[in-house]
Amino acid sequence: MAEIAVTAPLPGDALARLDGGHQVRVRASGPALGGRDMVEFVGAADALICLLADRVAAEVFALCPRLKVVANYAVGVNNVDLEAARTSGVWVTNTPDVLTDATADLAWALILAVARRVGEGDGLVRSGGFTGWKPDLLLGTSLQGKTLGIVGMGRIGAAVARRAVGFGMRIAYHGRAPRAVAGVEAEFVPDLDALLARADVLSLHCPLTPQTRRLIDERRLRLLPRGAIVVNTSRGEVVDEEALVRVLESGVLGGAGLDVYEREPEVHHGLLGRMDVVLLPHLGSGTREARAVMAELVVDNVLAVLAGKPPLTPAVKPLVPRS
Ligand code: GLV
Ligand code: GLV
Repeated sequence: MAEIAVTAPLPGDALARLDGGHQVRVRASGPALGGRDMVEFVGAADALICLLADRVAAEVFALCPRLKVVANYAVGVNNVDLEAARTSGVWVTNTPDVLTDATADLAWALILAVARRVGEGDGLVRSGGFTGWKPDLLLGTSLQGKTLGIVGMGRIGAAVARRAVGFGMRIAYHGRAPRAVAGVEAEFVPDLDALLARADVLSLHCPLTPQTRRLIDERRLRLLPRGAIVVNTSRGEVVDEEALVRVLESGVLGGAGLDVYEREPEVHHGLLGRMDVVLLPHLGSGTREARAVMAELVVDNVLAVLAGKPPLTPAVKPLVPRS
């Protein structure tokens, strides 16, 4: 009988499918796990199901010799030491595809909210400040004909691009290689700086890796056209948050829409008081539908590995899988 350690309850009843034949340990929701606490929590488990804020470091693979799979309840796997997993013989799986539309929708919610001052408008009405229609009340910026710059044309970036067609935006993107997206005319810009110089709206969709950590730093933020909007639904560490605050304060940007933060769940105090930013609590994949299917996929991945088969959506394939 295999043992499965789960760091938090998941929505829906997917976890119940693990019960038959396996011993499942579900931790009550709580602060993210990491360090020695994670080693202790995994213990003699054969499989770990964890959340994106939990940290799975090399010591987990070294000290938990029965562990065969880390199934992350997220598409991003930056919280797992992937190289240590690979060399230790442990599969790491993620939840691609099933959250693509949800996340692309949320990126658009942020683009529209910042461009059309949705948060400010909502606040004005609630505070009793709406005294009647005015020609110049809370004017925003139109998106039609402007350029959407996408960094990372993976599944989510492509889904964001598809939505941009309906809003009449030009689309340019930067990534490792050009990629065709059906029904979308998008220009590949090999040089990130050149993309930034043109992006009226910048939307980030790259994974967090050593190469993308603080990719969007102060120098790059200052390349954006005047009035540009920065939207981040990827990982907070892709942007130098301190620099973003400075550049916003200097008044050259049109605003920012953020779903993720550098020191999540902590949010830079310089962002909290600003009316030109819209701040969400990491809701990218947060639809009931997406979160339920993510749970099913996590469970399918674990069951596959425990049955001696490759998982459905591996993020890391081990050198020699542990048996
Ligand atoms: C959410 O941020 C995810 O990576 O799934
Ligand atoms: C993640 O699913 C991506 O490829 O964008």
